[in-house]
Amino acid sequence: MSDRTSDASLDRVIDFVNANRDRYVEELKEYLAIPSISALPDHAEDVARCAEWTAAALSRAGLENVRQVETPGNPVVYGDWLHADGAPTILFYGHYDVQPVDPVDLWESPPFEATVRQGEIYARGAADDKGQVFMHVKAIEACLTETGRLPVNLKVILEGEEEVGSKHLEGFIRDHEADLAADVVVISDTPMFDRGVPSICYGLRGITYCQIDLRGTTTDLHSGSFGGAVANPAFVLAQILNQMKDRSGRVRIPGFYDDVRPLTDAERAEFAKLPFDERRYRREIGAPKLAGETGYTTLERLWGRPTFEVNGLLSGFTGDGAKTVIPAVAMAKVSMRLVPDQDPVKVADLFEAHLRKVAPKSVAVEVQRMHAGRPWMTAFDNRFVQAAGRAIERGFGRTPVFNREGGSIPVVATFQEVLGLPAVLFGVGLPDENAHAPNEKLDLGNFHHGIIASAALYREVGALD
Ligand code: BES
Ligand code: ZN
Repeated sequence: MSDRTSDASLDRVIDFVNANRDRYVEELKEYLAIPSISALPDHAEDVARCAEWTAAALSRAGLENVRQVETPGNPVVYGDWLHADGAPTILFYGHYDVQPVDPVDLWESPPFEATVRQGEIYARGAADDKGQVFMHVKAIEACLTETGRLPVNLKVILEGEEEVGSKHLEGFIRDHEADLAADVVVISDTPMFDRGVPSICYGLRGITYCQIDLRGTTTDLHSGSFGGAVANPAFVLAQILNQMKDRSGRVRIPGFYDDVRPLTDAERAEFAKLPFDERRYRREIGAPKLAGETGYTTLERLWGRPTFEVNGLLSGFTGDGAKTVIPAVAMAKVSMRLVPDQDPVKVADLFEAHLRKVAPKSVAVEVQRMHAGRPWMTAFDNRFVQAAGRAIERGFGRTPVFNREGGSIPVVATFQEVLGLPAVLFGVGLPDENAHAPNEKLDLGNFHHGIIASAALYREVGALD
């Protein structure tokens, strides 16, 4: 196919996308109505229904060999189109599961009744990740409907366990290594740098997540009759957590920084050039003052430095009024975001050893490891990333910037290690889209431009040798 023909066919695809803009939003609303919360066993049926809906959407878009591949957990939805002889193959990955909706009272409209307000669609999963998955499904549909073909070979895998650590995906990838052979992985599951500043993400942090349970006594005790004679697990937990980080924001777990790849001066200079408005950032998240590791800027702290965070705490009496009690137990959920070349299992070992060392004998300590994902970083001077840059320019009218992100998509490192594949992370969310929080939303302009950019991406990659 000559360049001119394919340009003309991309124009036709874009016309089709423009003409179908409203229909896409109506269909997306249906997708967002399914509460596919992977973390909550009560929603298992919804997750299954969502896998079915996702598979049907791939079929409707014109993909072939669509099926749900069973795993020990939630199914992986697969579809492909493999008739672009001689062209590269894209492996597109996304997820159809979503985060829980608590605290549900803070939602301005119900999380599973997608509502459009001021050009943004509000619902759990709007940005993370159903909206971004659907953007590709509609780009595929537009290409196949309008031109009868895709300019590239495409394999799509959509998982249902990303929000709970992608436990079974590595096994799935290893079991289907040959079937998943491709030239590049494409993922749209990240925010863009800022409104009007599209970006390509070249680094993600890893994660290791643990739950700590402390038990002081067999049951809660009267704090007058027993206070002073036994350890209070809530207080011990606070003392333990206090041992994990010093006042300058450095993690105190021995060995924690051993494998941290230092930020280079060149990369720090690149971060500093990005149009980051720190005051606006602080105001938007409502923080009285930003806080983090001394000696690093906010972007460096977010993208290039590891952290230790408390994700949840539970102990004792937390209702209205007062109750004089020594709680029997205290629980904390903690996670550490990791950077290259930290290993999540090694870091979890170091954490657990430190925890057991600093915990007093007066409490019984239990540690559960919830999930772990490796950090990822790639060079962005490869031809696929360059092709994505041109496609984003076509969709958004602006060349993308390159950024790293603080969040984690554990499978990206697996794709690199098991399948040897580079990845292009082209996301159209916005940093203020409330992923994992109440009032998650997706800008419908970005959704629409993202469909065009996705179609352009298939064409750009298809045109590579
Ligand atoms: N879409 C996010 C990943 C993300 C968020 C990347 C922000 C870059 C910036 C993804 O769905 C997610 O939330 N992942 C989890 C992974 C965890 C459960 C293993 C995360 O980062 O907490
Ligand atoms: Zn996501």
